Amino acid sequence: MQPKQTLTLTDNRNGTCYEYPIVDGTRGPSVVDMRTFFKDTGMFSYDPGYTSTASCSSKITFIDGEKGELRYRGIPIETLATKHSYLETCYLLLNEQLPSIEELHNFDLELRHRAFLHEGLRNLFNAFPDNAHPMATLSAAVTALASFYDDHLEICDESEYLEMAHRIIAKIPTIAAFSYRHSLGIPFIQPDIDLSFTKNFLTMLRAYPGGKMHLGRLGHEEIKEVEVRALDTIFTLHADHEQNASTTVVRGVASTGAHPYVAIASGIAALWGRAHGGANESVIAQLEMIGSVDNVDAFIARAKDPDDDFRLMGFGHRVYKNFDPRAKILKSLQDELKEALNLDSRLLEIAGKIEEIALNDEYFVSRHLYPNIDFYTGIILTALKIPRNMFTPIFVIGRTVGWITQWIEFKKDPQSKIARPRQLYLGE
Ligand code: CMC
Repeated sequence: MQPKQTLTLTDNRNGTCYEYPIVDGTRGPSVVDMRTFFKDTGMFSYDPGYTSTASCSSKITFIDGEKGELRYRGIPIETLATKHSYLETCYLLLNEQLPSIEELHNFDLELRHRAFLHEGLRNLFNAFPDNAHPMATLSAAVTALASFYDDHLEICDESEYLEMAHRIIAKIPTIAAFSYRHSLGIPFIQPDIDLSFTKNFLTMLRAYPGGKMHLGRLGHEEIKEVEVRALDTIFTLHADHEQNASTTVVRGVASTGAHPYVAIASGIAALWGRAHGGANESVIAQLEMIGSVDNVDAFIARAKDPDDDFRLMGFGHRVYKNFDPRAKILKSLQDELKEALNLDSRLLEIAGKIEEIALNDEYFVSRHLYPNIDFYTGIILTALKIPRNMFTPIFVIGRTVGWITQWIEFKKDPQSKIARPRQLYLGE
């Protein structure tokens, strides 16, 4: 038997030694099991932002931040993004293996049938003001969805877990599209059961009532296959990302025993922030604000100035310290789409200059600040005619499968406990 590895800590105030087991994962850094630390020592560990804390064990997603590696259920993101569809990726995350042709067919069919919303839920959208940000409406509507499915509060077997997951994955695009159309005061487009997951979403977003596409110079501008594939890849790249801020929120809400859809709504709220999923909207806003390649140097100088809280949106990541593999895939997708989709050359030029400077500048290099996924999504989404306030809802659509898979894993884990950290009290 292998000798048990331990970490010994010495309290220098009195020389007492404490020993903690070191637990190895299948890959990635080992952890020190500190669960008895407070009981043993009467002290807490202090780690704001959880920079050194593993909050759970998981078998879903693996990231090696040094190597720029990302895998879902052991499969590299590059393989999933280039050889498999988003629905295959969803199936993989939920079922721990890629589907057979028949399994994929049945999964796809089930999602198409479940994409419709209860008519009662439609009324909720009227409560929101015109111009409401779709992220606010989306989060509220997902909370409201919980009230239609009380039975998901007490899930007992595998088929119920999957039914609950399929339902939310299928309905999220409909809720997102309705949220957007409400913000413009235009009629909702119901899901079309004959369309694939991604094409159906683009249709619900863009079509005129009756399903007709926008009337352009050359007649009805049909959704192109290249657009569907690009958006499908974007969904795949967003599908999961281990214990990021919004997933940590989802698991935290799960730990209290609340309804799974309320946990997802909380994840949506957490994702909205600029430091997380909201960055994709901010990147384009920032490129617009910079306005011309001539102004790039001045903004780079602001990003480097310690007295200025301006940050270069779409740069930096807590885990990736060499490159973000999702950004690499998107950069080649961007190059591929340049011709086919008429990408905005002015924004591309500004983005290219920022990228070039940042990748060579000592400030960015020494802090390991590389372009992240959000740096590239905005330009591609703009070319897909996705409005800017829908960029973060697109992230939500992709990430819902990850959140719900993590929710299920949390529920099935016998070691799960209510999330209840402590504090270093410095007050009166
Ligand atoms: N522009 C300029 N400086 C930056 C940036 C940036 N985008 N990001 C980090 N830094 C600096 C920061 O000021 C600090 O410098 P110093 O050591 O001199 O104080 C150093 O780099 C470390 O930053 P940090 O804030 O301690 O790093 P973190 O791991 O806590 O934050 C981050 C990671 C992603 C929140 C941050 O890099 C950031 O705010 N980036 C811009 C927003 C963004 O693009 N977010 C999307 C993240 S990827 C998709 C997702 O997760 O949703």
